[in-house]
Amino acid sequence: MNVCVIGTGYVGLIATAVFADWGNNVVGVDIDKEKIDMIKQGKMPIYEPGLAEVVEKNVKEGRLTFTTNIGDGIRDAEIVFICVGTPQDDTGAADLSYVWGAAEEIGKNLNGYKIIVTKSTVPVGTNEKVAMIVKDNLKKDIPFDVASNPEFLKEGSSVEDMRHPDRTILGSNSQKAIDTLKQLYAHLNTPVVECNLRTAEMIKYASNAFLATKISFINEIAQICERAGADVSVVADGMGLDKRIGRAFLYPSIGYGGSCFPKDVAALYRTSTDQAYDFKLLRGVMEVNERQKEYYLDNIVGELGKNLDGKVIACLGLSFKANTDDVRKSVALTVIQRLRGLGAALRVYDPKGTDNSKDHLGDANIYYASDSYDAVEGADALCILTEWKEFQELDFGKVKELMKGNYVFDGRNLLDINTIQDLGFTYFAIGRPTNGTKKISSKFTRSVLLS
Ligand SMILES: NC(=O)c1ccc[n+]([C@@H]2O[C@H](COP(=O)([O-])OP(=O)(O)OC[C@H]3O[C@@H](n4cnc5c(N)ncnc54)[C@H](O)[C@@H]3O)[C@@H](O)[C@H]2O)c1
Repeated sequence: MNVCVIGTGYVGLIATAVFADWGNNVVGVDIDKEKIDMIKQGKMPIYEPGLAEVVEKNVKEGRLTFTTNIGDGIRDAEIVFICVGTPQDDTGAADLSYVWGAAEEIGKNLNGYKIIVTKSTVPVGTNEKVAMIVKDNLKKDIPFDVASNPEFLKEGSSVEDMRHPDRTILGSNSQKAIDTLKQLYAHLNTPVVECNLRTAEMIKYASNAFLATKISFINEIAQICERAGADVSVVADGMGLDKRIGRAFLYPSIGYGGSCFPKDVAALYRTSTDQAYDFKLLRGVMEVNERQKEYYLDNIVGELGKNLDGKVIACLGLSFKANTDDVRKSVALTVIQRLRGLGAALRVYDPKGTDNSKDHLGDANIYYASDSYDAVEGADALCILTEWKEFQELDFGKVKELMKGNYVFDGRNLLDINTIQDLGFTYFAIGRPTNGTKKISSKFTRSVLLS
């Protein structure tokens, strides 16, 4: 099939590569010329395991091309995917300006019947407006259909996720559009959910909101475990063995971040209020998520004091999760900024996220280390902020020798308690009994006791 993908970011670029790898002729379109030039030179603008190889193979075999010209991109396409960003606006709602922009350009350049499919995460009712915008911009009367095919890939394993999705959601008010899209995905032996546009749009938000709820839920359980002397990791193991619950997303932490969960949860909450409904549970999910980083910072301040002038803190992890260079809404960056605000000098390291972080953090009071050992040198405390496997595999005997102090604040419960404590570290985890004593006088604990 001939396919066009508009937007070559984390979702769009993976979609171009995987669709082409399935034997389709694919054109990727982006308004960012620098990005398209990079891709054409064989350089990936983002880090995703396996992506560069699939792009290179399909470009070489002539099935995959890239352009900044949307007219060229959609000319021969039977299906046009919209994969542009939908960031959060100031009110918490999804900013749909990129989607409207893409729809307008598609309308202006439409040269024959096509199926226009939104893969971007968009609130209920968006696809109906996409159809209106396309129609309003047509130069002559050309038939088209719209469909919703939300994407569920995870950064860090996105190529594999798109190749082997758990399900395919196909929403459209046109059976012809659904049947054509089914052909594109026909070789995948995965369930297909056929529904109308609004239902498909809602499935994506409901899925992300549920996953975020699991995270906030286990973070709440961690708080109780900490006070009651239970170990949340074992609690999560025990819960996760129940097939109705599952172990995924039951990992306590400094809270969820990234380019999807914060904005999607906020956007769904906004949708609920737009529908005159107060989604109380989701409000709690967001509040708990905010509180987790306060709790983490309170532990550090409880030990090192509120004035961190002269203190050196090593931070391992900048990206919002492991195996990605994406630092958008990364909680790690928030923690680092807050520690810097209290006067600390930071030594930071991330396997892939350092370059992107520099744009957000700048250079003031921050040393970008070349590796983890470089980061911990002379540090009073070590903060683990992202769950990269390589942090788990460090030689902590060597880390102890290189550090000045002995505090480890593990924001991802990544390390083995016994190993770390036997080496003489004062270890703080989340919801696990460790030798790090949580200070009752901390702001977080006080606010919880008073509330
Ligand atoms: N990143 C993820 O893990 C993920 C997973 C599932 C769904 N999503 C959703 O997919 C959408 C895209 O997310 P992303 O992370 O790939 O975003 P991104 O910011 O990485 O990429 C968006 C791209 O669209 C381009 N663009 C914007 N307007 C354009 C236009 N008019 N024509 C052509 N290109 C245009 C931008 O230049 C950019 O390269 C969002 O709605 C997001 O919520 C993301």
